[in-house]
Amino acid sequence: MKRSFKIAARYSEKNDLTITRRHCIQFLRAIPDNAAQLVFTSPPYNLGKVYEPRTTIDEYVSFQDDVIAECARIVRPGGSICWQVGTYVAERGDLFPLDILLYGLFAKQPSFRLRNRVIWYFEHGEHCRNRLSGRHECILWWSKGDDYLFNLDAIRVPQKYPGKRSYRGPNRGRPSGNPRGKNPGDVWSIPNVKGNHVEKTSHPCQFPIALAEYFVLALTNTHDLVVDPFLGSGTTAIASLRNCRRAAGSDINPEYIEIARGRVRSLERGHLPYRDRAKSIYVPLPNSPLTVPPEHFVEGNGGRAHHFSSARKTLRADSNLYVSSSR
Ligand SMILES: C[S@@+](CC[C@H](N)C(=O)[O-])C[C@H]1O[C@@H](n2cnc3c(N)ncnc32)[C@H](O)[C@@H]1O
Repeated sequence: MKRSFKIAARYSEKNDLTITRRHCIQFLRAIPDNAAQLVFTSPPYNLGKVYEPRTTIDEYVSFQDDVIAECARIVRPGGSICWQVGTYVAERGDLFPLDILLYGLFAKQPSFRLRNRVIWYFEHGEHCRNRLSGRHECILWWSKGDDYLFNLDAIRVPQKYPGKRSYRGPNRGRPSGNPRGKNPGDVWSIPNVKGNHVEKTSHPCQFPIALAEYFVLALTNTHDLVVDPFLGSGTTAIASLRNCRRAAGSDINPEYIEIARGRVRSLERGHLPYRDRAKSIYVPLPNSPLTVPPEHFVEGNGGRAHHFSSARKTLRADSNLYVSSSR
């Protein structure tokens, strides 16, 4: 795709992209009531990452309350807010699922209704020793009112058994599936943006373009405005511009604003790396040498690569990672 976007720091409905280095509350206040069709964002999780001071949980919830109220104001009736969150970990290791913590802040907004709690599942992340490793986050999808936009056809996925036919009832013998594909459901497996992911920038917490793209396609129409108050590396804006929507976003960190601008420039030139949402997930074969690096063998095997089934017997006692991946 080669396009030229009209980009500005001050909001105007004529911009293709408004990108502002400001506190999100100041940014949102400059957007008129009912201007946006969709707010899609991932806020800080209060984990004390480089881009956020760690505060008390009450202060964090109060900050989120202010941001959510502004987002509710700028979304038009029939539009949506999607809040992509994971888990806040308190000092003593207590977990607070942020969707549960923040649910009431949305529920109290007049006419907002929860439509889905989408589980975003991925296979990479930290390996915990004292509990199960976290491998999902979620997205709360709230609509403003009951008459809301939902373009299901735009996000259908291939049927598993396309030739399947009804075996009873009035449709017996006829194809039973929707020829346009099936509803993608509310559990999505999309690789997270770590190390070797093609979309990786130096931003520490990017989400994949595909994740935002599903919601942009389903919850907006061409030329609609999509807003992300915590823009980071600009992923929501990119998912929107790629699909001919307008976008607006803010971040307090100038470095991240530069990354976002750079990605938009690459998109304009047609060079932006993108992992297609239709691309399948890599599944390693259990007997592949890649699943057992040589240093996981005990000494005495001559450094030779074993067939995995025999290698399992000689794995070091402190390494259970590769044993579990063969199951
Ligand atoms: C979880 S990251 C978002 C990452 C983004 N979804 C992406 O794909 O790159 C949260 C972002 O919020 C920004 N941020 C934190 N506090 C903010 C505030 N008060 N106003 C605007 N941005 C803020 C951080 O700098 C960080 O880039």
